[in-house]
Amino acid sequence: MSLPSPWRTDFPGILALEAEGQTYLDSAATAQKPQAVLDALLGYYGAGAANVHRAQHLPGERATRAFEATRDKVATWLNAAEPSQIVFTRGATEAFNLLAYGLESEFQAGDEIAVSAAEHHANLLPWQQLAQRRGLKLVVLPLDDGGRIDLQRAAELIGPRTRLLAISQLSNVLGCWQPLAELIALGKAQGALSVVDGAQGVVHGRHDVQALGCDFYVFSSHKLYGPDGVGALYGSRAALRRLGHWQYGGEMVRLADYQYAEFRDAPLGFEAGTPPIAGVIALGATLDYLGGLDAAAVSGHEAALHLKLLAGLSARDGIQLLGAPRVALASFVVEGVHNADLAHLLTEQGIAVRAGHHCAMPLLNSLGLAGAVRVSLGLYNDDTDLQRFFTALDQALELLR
Ligand SMILES: Cc1ncc(COP(=O)(O)O)c(C=O)c1O
Repeated sequence: MSLPSPWRTDFPGILALEAEGQTYLDSAATAQKPQAVLDALLGYYGAGAANVHRAQHLPGERATRAFEATRDKVATWLNAAEPSQIVFTRGATEAFNLLAYGLESEFQAGDEIAVSAAEHHANLLPWQQLAQRRGLKLVVLPLDDGGRIDLQRAAELIGPRTRLLAISQLSNVLGCWQPLAELIALGKAQGALSVVDGAQGVVHGRHDVQALGCDFYVFSSHKLYGPDGVGALYGSRAALRRLGHWQYGGEMVRLADYQYAEFRDAPLGFEAGTPPIAGVIALGATLDYLGGLDAAAVSGHEAALHLKLLAGLSARDGIQLLGAPRVALASFVVEGVHNADLAHLLTEQGIAVRAGHHCAMPLLNSLGLAGAVRVSLGLYNDDTDLQRFFTALDQALELLR
C-alpha cells in the first residue's frame, strides 16, 4: 500500500531537500517547517520588528499582542488552566536549566532526584550537576526490555527522600511512551515534584498537562515543526510559586534600585531580557497550522509509516532494534557494522539519518553500545522516503559486510 503524505507540499524545506536528492529522516533531531511558519517569520520582520512588553508605539503593541497570542495558543495546546502558566525559554534545554537552578532551594543534602535510564542529556545533566552542587543523590529508574520504566522497580526506588522526578515522555532513542501517570502518582505520594520532558512526546498527539498531573512540562518548538531558539515551560500554579528566579535582567523586575530588586511572578519573571520574539510568534503560526490538520489522519499516517519502517528493518538479517519503539522513530545497530560507517554510506546516498549516542550516552553505555543509527519520521514523510532509505541501507550493508 502506498502512503503519500497529503502535507508534504506544505513544507518547502522537504521539497528543497528532495530537489537536492536528500531524503530527510531526522525529524526527531529537528523538524522541517511548514510555509505558514516561514510566512510568520517574514511577516513579523517585514511589518517592522519591535520589542515586546516595553513600548507603547504601534509596532511594539503589535509585537506584544502577537507574542502573547502564542502564549494563549500554547496554553490551549497543552490544556494549561491559564496562559500565565506558560514561560517562554530558548528551548527545552534552557527550561531544564531554569528548573534545576530555580528549584535549588527545595533540596537538602541527602535528598533524591529520580530520572529514567533513558534521559536525554538535557534532562539529565542539569539534575546531575544540581545533585553535585547540593549533595543530592541521583536515582536512575531502570527500564524493561522494551525501554519503558519498570514500574515495580520505580515503586521501590521512589521513596520519602525523593524530592523530584524528571522523566522523558517519549525517549528520543527508544521511541516508547513512559507510564507517566503512574510515575507522577508514585512521586506525588511521596511529595515529590514532577518534571516531564515533552521534547519528543509533544510532537505526537495532544497531551493534557492537567490530566497528566505533572508539575512541569517542557518542550522545544523546533521539533514540533516550529522555529528553533524557542521553547516552552508549563508549570502548575503551585509549582511556579516554588520556582526561584535564575536569570536576571530587563523586564523580569517589578522594581529595582542599586542595592535591591523585586522580581515579577511567572511568566515574565522567568523571561529575562529580550525574548526570541519572531520565534515565539512563529510558534503561534505553527500551532495554528497543526491545529488545522486532521489529527486522526496525521497519527494514522505516522503509525502506518512507522509500521512499514519497523517491518522493513525486521525483515533484514542482523539488524537489532533498540527497545520496542511505538511511534515515529527506530534506532538500530547491525551486527558486525559500526554505526558511523553505516551512517557515512547512507549520507553518501543522500539519506539524512542520525547516528551516534543521540545525547543519551548513559543509555547507550548501559546497552553496551557506542552508538546506533536512528531513523525518525515527520508528518511529511512518505513511503517513497522509506523505499529510498531501504535501497540505500541494502547497498550500504552489502558493502560493509
Ligand atoms: C527527549 C529530548 N529531550 C530534550 C531534548 C533537548 O531539546 P533542545 O535541544 O531543543 O533543547 C531533546 C533533543 O533532541 C530530546 O530529544
